[in-house]
This record gives sequence, structure tokens and C-alpha cells, in this order.
Amino acid sequence: MKHIFNAGPCVLPQQAIDNAIEALRNFKGTGVSLISISHRTKEWEETMDETRALWKELLNIPDDYETVFLGGGASLQFLYVAMNFLEKKAAYLDTGVWAHKALKEAAGLGEAYALASSADKNYSYIPKGYIIPRDVDYFHITTNNTIYGTEIKHDIDSPVPLIADMSSDILSRRVDVKKYAMIYGGAQKNAGPAGVAFAIIRKDALGKVSRYIPTMLDYRTHIDKGSMFNTPPVFSIFVMNETLKWLKGIGGIDAIHEIDEKKAATLYGEIDRNSIFKGTAAVEDRSIMNVPFVMAPGYEELAPKFLEFAKERDLVGLKGHRSVGGFRASLYNACTQEDVDALVKAMQEFEKENK
Ligand SMILES: Cc1ncc(COP(=O)(O)O)c(C=O)c1O
Repeated sequence: MKHIFNAGPCVLPQQAIDNAIEALRNFKGTGVSLISISHRTKEWEETMDETRALWKELLNIPDDYETVFLGGGASLQFLYVAMNFLEKKAAYLDTGVWAHKALKEAAGLGEAYALASSADKNYSYIPKGYIIPRDVDYFHITTNNTIYGTEIKHDIDSPVPLIADMSSDILSRRVDVKKYAMIYGGAQKNAGPAGVAFAIIRKDALGKVSRYIPTMLDYRTHIDKGSMFNTPPVFSIFVMNETLKWLKGIGGIDAIHEIDEKKAATLYGEIDRNSIFKGTAAVEDRSIMNVPFVMAPGYEELAPKFLEFAKERDLVGLKGHRSVGGFRASLYNACTQEDVDALVKAMQEFEKENK
């Protein structure tokens, strides 16, 4: 059995994968594959409705919010956000490559700027002490910075509409949705496979911009049609549905949060104890989802050897992002404590052999 630490696409619950395989053969007993059915069938519409209902229940989304499931990934949401919310000016918290890309899309449509940035230390911390201005249309944050392993772990208060990219920490902690005008992300970490993005939008936050919004880029189009204005990514939504069912089955967000915190504490504990590895993110901002680490000074040349050592022990997906180097273990919801224990054991053995 492989221990999968990929950053996304990533490990998903086995139950979701098994049920997807069965649905590919025979969707809900129709005798037709999930990827051959019409999305206008009763069976599919039930799946769509159930997915939305599970999503709303697990995340405790208030009634004045709508969720849409769309193609194009989180990267297209960067543009959607600006199209639908930016009239004149928007402030962004620059916490990494993804935050920066989101800002860049908005800068093409209006005045968008970084209110604060942690670029000075390669995004290894979350900027603090900034004051959110009142003269912007919205303030945009990236709650979990997948590459750098930093996370905003609480819901911030904002005097202007708050918009959050939660691609890599959605469903890992309880979020007070009311504090946000919008939350969005790609599904391919905690929510399901690649191919579908989600956007949770407070209905009254829409309709405030004067520009023409192309039909497909207007959230209202997709809200009005229940995410079926055009052909939805049925396979991805099906696996998302199964992933949400699995999460509900193990007790929902509070239960998984406890598990996620324990996994992260185990790995950070080892990183801090082990004399030949070290963490890269500021301790107070450490993400519970993505854990980047490197070889400690003096041991740098051992990095390729550790990756090989890990591979021999069935530990997969540990190579760090090129902008941080070293290693990154992504501990998404379907990653287990046993997976983390196997990684910690390998780090301990590697230390013994190489110190
Ligand atoms: C925080 C964050 N935002 C946005 C993206 C981009 O997502 P996508 O590949 O779905 O466009 C990623 C991808 O990893 C991410 O981690």
C-alpha cells in the first residue's frame, strides 16, 4: 500500500474511488456508465442535488448563500472573482504564487493591489498588522498556501466583502461562512478529484458591478441553472459526492479537524525533533494541510537520497515545490495517521543512518 502525500490531485478516500469504479461500469443500476449518461436524467439530477445538500450541511452554509460547481479550476475563479465583484479597486493579501495569480487577474480589470505581502521571506509567513481599507470592493485572501505551508487558521473580520481562496484547506476546519462574501477553490485536495471548482457566494453580494459580464463568467448564470447551464463535469462531481459522504460518515468537519490536527502535530513534532531536517514555515502560521521541510544545514546534499529512501518505503509525492525545494508532505483529509507515522518512521531511520 502506498502512502500518498501529493499536493493535489491527492489521496482520496478508498470508498470514493471504489464507488466511482462501480459507477463507471454501471451508474446507479441504470446499466449505463456514469460517463455515458445524460446529465439531464433523473439519476444525475439526484446526484447533483445530493452533492449540493451534503456540501451545505457539512460546511454549515447559511440559506442566503449559493454554491456552484464549475469547470476551469481555481485559476478560472481568479477571473470570475474580478469579473463579478471588482468595480474599481480591490485589495489582496499576497501570501504566495496563487494569491499573486489571483491578484494579476484582477489587475487586468481594475485597480488591484497587494495590501501586505510576505514575498520578502519567500512567503514563509502570513503578514500581520495590516489594516483592511474601507474604500475597496473586496479584500481577497488565500487561507492556505499550498506551496509554502502557511495557513490563516481563523476567520478574519473584514469591513469590506471578504473573498477567500480555500482550495487547499476547505473541509479541514469549521469556517464561519457568514464572514465571507465568497469562498472558492479547486476540488482536487479535500473535496474530490480535479475537474471541478466550487464557489460559495452570498447572493446579495452579486450584481454590484457595472461591466458586461460574459454569460459563462457570470455566477448568476450558474446559480440560476443549478450548475447545469452547460454540461457539468459529471465524473468529478460524482467523486466529490462520494468524498463528502465519506466525510459525513466519519463525523464531518469537527471530527476530521481533530484527526488533521493530530497528523500535523505528529509530523511537525518530528521535524522539530529530528536533527537533520527542518521546517520552512513560521511556526505560528504552520498549515495543517501542507508541511514543507528541508534538510538541515550541513545535510543539504542528502535530499535526493531521502526521496529515494522514502520511495523504497512506499512514501509517494514528497518532493517539495521548486520554489521552496526539499520536501512537502500534504496531509489532506484522506491521508491517515498511519501514513504520517510511516513518514515519521522513515525520517527517524534516515537520521540514524546519516547523522
Ligand atoms: C491555494 C490554491 N489556489 C489555486 C490553485 C490553482 O488551482 P487550479 O489548478 O484548480 O486552477 C491551487 C493549486 O494547487 C492552490 O493550491
